[in-house]
Amino acid sequence: MHNAAFGVLGMDWIYVAFDVLPGEVRKALEGIKALGMRGINVTVPHKGEAFTSVDVLTPEAEATEAVNTVVVEDGRLVGYNTDVYGFRRALMEAGFRPLPDKVVLLGAGGAARAVAYAIGTSEGVEEVVVLNRTEERAERLAEEMGMRTGRKFLPGPLSEDALVEAMDGAGLLVNATSVGMHPDVDSSPLPSAEVLRPGLWVYDIVYVPPRTKLVRQAEGRGAKAVGGTDMLVYQGARAFRLWTGLEPPVEVMRRALLEALGAR
Ligand code: ATR
Repeated sequence: MHNAAFGVLGMDWIYVAFDVLPGEVRKALEGIKALGMRGINVTVPHKGEAFTSVDVLTPEAEATEAVNTVVVEDGRLVGYNTDVYGFRRALMEAGFRPLPDKVVLLGAGGAARAVAYAIGTSEGVEEVVVLNRTEERAERLAEEMGMRTGRKFLPGPLSEDALVEAMDGAGLLVNATSVGMHPDVDSSPLPSAEVLRPGLWVYDIVYVPPRTKLVRQAEGRGAKAVGGTDMLVYQGARAFRLWTGLEPPVEVMRRALLEALGAR
């Protein structure tokens, strides 16, 4: 997606992938300074290590304890989390606005942190129920995000009973678990699809496949559902702007991404 963007803007830049072992992230980041690189993206499982390795953190990176984009500014490594912006923008573009008073979030891992922070700092949201297979992780995330955002975060297990109760009065359901991701394409994170109904908004951050089982279930029951491709596009668009200072050619980036995903 970034190389397509550089290409269409006629820029002599290139985006390449490097394998880095856990424990080596700090060295890799020092290396990008020495090599004169403008910046990088960091992906799973290194976002936490990047968080502790950069020189400066933005508020989103600080709140999520995860860095997915680094920019070298005046010789310093500045750590951003563009997943937060990517998620917010993807909701807006899907027409999921204004956000409802009550949101249900499935998952409490790294991706869920970015989503929880984005939701907790969005206007209109009053209550976020966080349900997770490992309930203690939901408790920790809810407590922390409640403190950080000042909104009401309530934790629970990812059980049918808890889900039915959580969905009562909820207008948006977000899946931030990895359930449904390739190759697990016939799984859904929902213990019961009965909670899906017309008028409900469903956002699945999983992007491989672009239409997950959850998205299909939701649409089949009359809910409006969107997959995770846009979040990926917009986190990338934001990173592009941070590195280059230029307006990202979003449609070119989206097309390149869909082509690459389609080829998998
Ligand atoms: P990421 O950084 O991609 O979010 P992660 O931190 O490993 O990855 O988090 C994965 C999330 O998916 C967690 O919420 C995990 O639940 P646990 O905290 O109980 O591990 C959830 N998850 C993964 N596989 C799952 C499954 N089969 N059923 C339910 N939840 C699952």
